[in-house]
Amino acid sequence: PDFYLYQHKGFYLISGIHSAEELDKLKDCEIRDTDIFTITYPKSGTIWMQQILSLIDAKGDLSVTDKQMTSEQVPWLELTESTKNFASMPSPRVRVSHLPYYLAPLGLRQKKGKVIYVARNPKDVLVSYYHFHKVAVMLETPKDFNEFFDKFMEGRVCGSCWFDHIAGWYTHKDEMNFLYLTYEEMIQDLKAAVLKICSFLGKQLDEQQIDSVVKHCTFKQMKTNPNANYESVSQSLLNHKEGAFMRKGTVGDWKNHLTVAQNEMFDQVFQERMRDLPLKFVWD
Ligand code: PPS
Repeated sequence: PDFYLYQHKGFYLISGIHSAEELDKLKDCEIRDTDIFTITYPKSGTIWMQQILSLIDAKGDLSVTDKQMTSEQVPWLELTESTKNFASMPSPRVRVSHLPYYLAPLGLRQKKGKVIYVARNPKDVLVSYYHFHKVAVMLETPKDFNEFFDKFMEGRVCGSCWFDHIAGWYTHKDEMNFLYLTYEEMIQDLKAAVLKICSFLGKQLDEQQIDSVVKHCTFKQMKTNPNANYESVSQSLLNHKEGAFMRKGTVGDWKNHLTVAQNEMFDQVFQERMRDLPLKFVWD
């Protein structure tokens, strides 16, 4: 298919994989108490949560989850087929999504279902997204880092503007059953994050099961897991030669990419745009 970015109600989607029409229907779809949505801006820990959630469900048993790609274990909400079938799927419906608050199902605002929002420091998001644009065939390959930096700052990417995304979800969090997590806290103490997620979801795992979830969700383990790297996805969608999906998995890689001027500009925009949000990020 011919992939290109197009705007739907101010949000950038990708032609060929997203359907604006189906997404509009999804907004009114009834939400069940058992629904679980992991919401992320791209490159903020989606695959990580897909792995964590499926392993929690399997009580830490990798042989149960690892029969298909990690992204199939917890599917994307906004891939056309998935969007279309959502209403008729059996419970529990566990999904990941990059959708902005205002396109998400309205039922969430009546405290139906659960939302886990994972945020990552946006400079590292930018860098991770830059590299992913070289791998993902459906995303336009950047001429160079500078060009991508401008695109990201202007929100001309799938997922649109990082600042709008987090502000939209975070300022409405009290309307929802909402858990806020950061990529950096997961890096710092993965077990604590897994315990937080279990408690939010009301899942009771014993110590050994928790340890097994954690073990299979480290960067090192996932980096060598073909399922976590979308390895069976065709070369026509992912240019595997450009790099693995599990790339580096660190905090602070932005320091190897942003110029001093870009960093200053970023800080200025961050200060302005995040003024009303009580959120702190770990930058290195
Ligand atoms: S996507 O395309 O939006 O689904 O990408 P997403 O999965 O959100 O983000 C990919 C980045 O997350 C890193 N990652 C991890 N880091 C640490 N530990 C674990 N277990 C882990 N799993 C995924 C992945 O490496 C990408 O970040 P970068 O900085 O590019 O390495």
